[in-house]
Amino acid sequence: MVDAEEERAFVEFDRVQKSYDGEVLVVKDLNLSMPKGEFLTMLGPSGSGKTTCLMMLAGFETATHGDIRLDGQGINNIPPHKRGIGMVFQNYALFPHMTVFENLSFPLEIRKMNKAEREGKVKRALEMVQMGEFGARRIAQLSGGQQQRIALARALVFDPSLVLMDEPLGALDKQLREHMQFEIKRIADDLDITVVYVTHDQTEALTMSDRVAVFDDGRIQQLAPPDQLYEEPENSFVAQFIGENNTLEGVIEEIQGNQALVRLDGGGLIDTTPVNVSKVGERTKVSIRPERVEFGRDRLGDSAHTLKAEVLEFIYMGDIFRTRLRVAGNDDFIVKTRNAVNQARFQPGQEIEIGWLAEDCRALDA
Ligand SMILES: Nc1ncnc2c1ncn2[C@@H]1O[C@H](COP(=O)(O)OP(=O)(O)OP(=O)(O)O)[C@@H](O)[C@H]1O
Ligand SMILES: [Mg+2]
Repeated sequence: MVDAEEERAFVEFDRVQKSYDGEVLVVKDLNLSMPKGEFLTMLGPSGSGKTTCLMMLAGFETATHGDIRLDGQGINNIPPHKRGIGMVFQNYALFPHMTVFENLSFPLEIRKMNKAEREGKVKRALEMVQMGEFGARRIAQLSGGQQQRIALARALVFDPSLVLMDEPLGALDKQLREHMQFEIKRIADDLDITVVYVTHDQTEALTMSDRVAVFDDGRIQQLAPPDQLYEEPENSFVAQFIGENNTLEGVIEEIQGNQALVRLDGGGLIDTTPVNVSKVGERTKVSIRPERVEFGRDRLGDSAHTLKAEVLEFIYMGDIFRTRLRVAGNDDFIVKTRNAVNQARFQPGQEIEIGWLAEDCRALDA
């Protein structure tokens, strides 16, 4: 249940801008409001401003313009160690010569906690990341995955209400990475902590987050729950950045309510949903997901427009089939179909007819 307390913004960026050199804005007019307990991921290409946002929130950088508030309070007035923020960095930033116990005890000593209390908290934090046996080990004697757990435990040891994580799993192999994604999510839910997580792995962002903020060029391009981000991208950057996506370019030929007819540069007319286009004659990039393409007209209705396509490649992947087509001059048009009993298995060179429901094809900015 969401009560008034949870509704209130816990973390707020209010028209925040940041420039390091007084000229170029690397964060441009950022607005973001997070309720307590939310797991929010900042996702975006390298240099888009993710770490800068995290650093401003943690208090290691100051905003050039605008306000950042934590639990209703302007953050500039609170010294970093009193903000109750735990941080996990990509390179862990552990003290290699110290033991695991000493590393975890350190943030508690800074907070002037007595020995007995420190021991209790360190023990609990280690158990949380399943490293209870490792207190006496030196950091240099741990594997990468174990170090990552200790870095996480150190961020949690002083019961922070907010944890910031900057690509915490970047150095791990795929399997360990997936395991830790699950662990971090579980711990965050169990302890009801608010998390701002940074990654440029979109699968990680989609599977872990309550909401994802897609960054590009110092701006949030879209802020939405994972399903909405994938199914309803608001612009062509987000459509191409999140998930696999087919793009076709053309011009709006006709708009009627929530349908638009697009004439493709490579020939042919298609049915689309106008998203951020509004005028006949306007250029557009249309976006269609590989799993939403239909073969033939069975499910499309008589008035639907279809395109001719040539099969270039058919890849059997076990659970799904992946077919690469040449469509309207695009040689990289991907279609994914489920491996079902009657599902077509195409041959390279075959000519087929494809189409889609207008609602599955989004006409976006060119
Ligand atoms: N201390 C700094 N001084 C000057 N410029 C900086 C500094 N830190 C970052 N920048 C610049 O600010 C921009 C945003 O950098 P930032 O580190 O926030 O990106 P990022 O989204 O975290 O990228 P990555 O995914 O590569 O970590 C970049 O153009 C970067 O070069
Ligand atoms: Mg970064």
